[in-house]
Amino acid sequence: MANSFGDRFKILTFGESHGKAVGVVIDGVKPGLEFDIETIQTELDRRRPGQSELVTPRAEEDQVEVLSGVFQGKTLGTPICLLIPNRHQDSEAYDALREVFRPGHAGYAVLKKYGIRDHRGGGRLSGRETAARVAAGALAKRELAKEKIQIIAYTKEVDGITAQAVDLEEIEKNPLRCPDKDAAKRMEERVLFYKSQGDSIGGIVEVLARNVPPGLGDPVFKKLDAEIAGALMSIGAVKAVEIGEGFQVARMRGSENNDQMNRHGFKTNHAGGILGGISTGQEIWIKIAVKPTSSIGKRQKTLDIFGREKEVSIRGRHDPCICPRIIPVAEAMVALVLYDALLRQRELEERTDTLERLRGEIDGVDYQLIELLARRNEVSSEIGEYKRRMERKIRDGKREAELMEKRMEWATDLGVDCELIRALFYQVMKASREIQKR
Ligand SMILES: Cc1cc2nc3c(=O)[nH]c(=O)nc-3n(C[C@H](O)[C@H](O)[C@H](O)COP(=O)(O)O)c2cc1C
Repeated sequence: MANSFGDRFKILTFGESHGKAVGVVIDGVKPGLEFDIETIQTELDRRRPGQSELVTPRAEEDQVEVLSGVFQGKTLGTPICLLIPNRHQDSEAYDALREVFRPGHAGYAVLKKYGIRDHRGGGRLSGRETAARVAAGALAKRELAKEKIQIIAYTKEVDGITAQAVDLEEIEKNPLRCPDKDAAKRMEERVLFYKSQGDSIGGIVEVLARNVPPGLGDPVFKKLDAEIAGALMSIGAVKAVEIGEGFQVARMRGSENNDQMNRHGFKTNHAGGILGGISTGQEIWIKIAVKPTSSIGKRQKTLDIFGREKEVSIRGRHDPCICPRIIPVAEAMVALVLYDALLRQRELEERTDTLERLRGEIDGVDYQLIELLARRNEVSSEIGEYKRRMERKIRDGKREAELMEKRMEWATDLGVDCELIRALFYQVMKASREIQKR
């Protein structure tokens, strides 16, 4: 089985839904980082079951325990093992399903592949495994937050009802984690209706990553969009991932889809913040399609392990709509991908010829300086016109002295050599007088 994920910040998750615990081993955490267990617990509490009528009533506490890698509140640089005990399993509910394949679940495929399976609650392929990802993702999220990178996810659509407004304050206030209060109410009614029918419903979750610097992602096989799509598709119940316009691009013209640029940057974001598999610095915009929960009360036809036709109705405790619970998981997976890409990018920058890179940077800064001087000349010329209209003289010695004094003050505040600024502004003011005279 493929149980590990990541390259520089590596995680390995373990555990089954009805075993003693689920957990994660994280390798690649820098030594000496503040380790705040509360950050991890907060994220786990968001994913925790039993929070509303819209999710499974399995009342797990999901209290995380740290087994290794942390000493006196700091990371040691050794593998961190986080354990989340399973305390509220109801394995008896699965006794009747020991020999039956539940429609929509992985039981049949798992048995064909391994020849053995833990039939209780989906075993390793249960949503429960994702608690371990959320715990590891919380650490990645914290490191990303230090770089001001923020990841936000919410329910965008359920049963054809779409969130029109995106009020981030609203997300954690309603059980669907929908950013539009009115849409949330209507979605909730629909979910409860399907639940009362012994059925379930799917939905779309949107994930946004903000303040991601340009340059993350490694073409050609670790393109950022490829990594994000793989990470999100590895979550149970996720059936499609769209980046930017996603499938909509198939219906667009180049002139509609291209993100044109001007001096302020990109004018639109159809690409979803990634071009050529590399982040552009724009918001990364992702959508995932979440399938309707497989475990439903309605009677369905299936087979048992001996190939006999059966009918099942799944009791037990299930999420009638998985969207609100998948949100912290999706955020965690995107955080893991971005943090890993950030670490790889830092290594690349260290290896790249530093002089070349810095020279490129200084070219950019000088261009901006000249651009600003051009803008200053334009303003000077306007001042010249005004003075001519008002019949005021061009040279104003008092004003020039004040201006120079102010610039000296700013230079001191910003720690720039005052003599340099004096010499620069002597020339700038001289040029300004010439422009005003014209
Ligand atoms: C957080 C989370 C909670 C889930 N809860 C349930 C559930 O209560 N009942 C259920 O049938 N499936 C649930 N699933 C989905 C199953 O894990 C998943 O559909 C199943 O393993 C089959 O895999 P596949 O849908 O990716 O093919 C959940 C998934 C996640 C990520």
